[in-house]
Amino acid sequence: KIEEVKAAIAAATAKDARELEEYRMRFISKKSVVGELFATMRTVPNEEKKAYGQLINEVKEAAEAKFKALIEALESGNSGAKQAAFDLTLPPVLTPSGAVHPLTATRRKIISIFERIGFNLSEGPEIEDDWHNFSALNFPENHPAREMQDTFFIEKNPDIALRTHTSSVQVRVMENERPPIRTLSPGRVYRNEAISARAHCIFHQVEGLYIDKNVGFRDLKNTLYHFAKEMFGASTKVRFRPSFFPFTEPSAEIDISCQLCGGAGCNVCKGTGWVEIGGSGMVDPNVLAASGIDPEVYTGFAFGMGIERIAMLSYQIKDLRLFTENDIRFLHQFSKLV
Ligand code: PHE
Repeated sequence: KIEEVKAAIAAATAKDARELEEYRMRFISKKSVVGELFATMRTVPNEEKKAYGQLINEVKEAAEAKFKALIEALESGNSGAKQAAFDLTLPPVLTPSGAVHPLTATRRKIISIFERIGFNLSEGPEIEDDWHNFSALNFPENHPAREMQDTFFIEKNPDIALRTHTSSVQVRVMENERPPIRTLSPGRVYRNEAISARAHCIFHQVEGLYIDKNVGFRDLKNTLYHFAKEMFGASTKVRFRPSFFPFTEPSAEIDISCQLCGGAGCNVCKGTGWVEIGGSGMVDPNVLAASGIDPEVYTGFAFGMGIERIAMLSYQIKDLRLFTENDIRFLHQFSKLV
């Protein structure tokens, strides 16, 4: 019996913590086979007790020594048993990883282009009062232009609304800082529009504002030429079309040559070869004055662009709803973006 136990101890292995515990239960604990050997001492005749005791003590020591050796082998990871449990040649189970959202990637690229020419970043609240979204921007009281923006009102009199553009952030900057001001305001904006492939009631804008002495329309054009070439490539053409905004005079719509057909005419540019990416203009003197900046001393330009539109042109995305549907097949196509 003793010889059998010795042989079992010598042959025992443990490739993980569970097997180590099994070994402990079998050879070390009170109820183990070794424990049982001690219990049989009572039945051994007195004159044999000494020799028998020595024998089972040897077994006990062997069991403990082996236990230590098994623990060390497991901890050092050198046991053959452990290596068998970790087959390094098996293909790994891949952890699914997220991807940068195309709107985030587009926003980051736009920001980095303007940061390199000296624009800083500014942010403001998405819930705005009438002053910052409209009045300070020279929207006259009861003027249809307020309706033009399909505003979601939260409260009336005094009016509180979801901001319809991030021009509201620029008002906050003009109120709190003195020229020269060169700031970029990216953010989410809201308009009560029917959701379609080209429009959404929630979208993102990035607006720019530059105020200093002697800022002219040439500065606006050169800045946006630079942006278009950095964003879409050196061969991109830019076109300014006369337009109207209450807060700029003169105002112009910004078009770029269609990225999808190279100007040849396609569905996206509706055959014209041009696509609109935003609005721009020279800051109206009334707007400067409303924020306490002297329009006799300073002039400035402003522009605003839709981030969705720019992302759609950059990545050839034909339906704006894809940005918010969270379809993993769509999002995964951008997993290489940073
Ligand atoms: N705020 C305008 C809009 O949301 C865009 C714009 C910004 C136009 C700055 C001119 C100057 O449509």
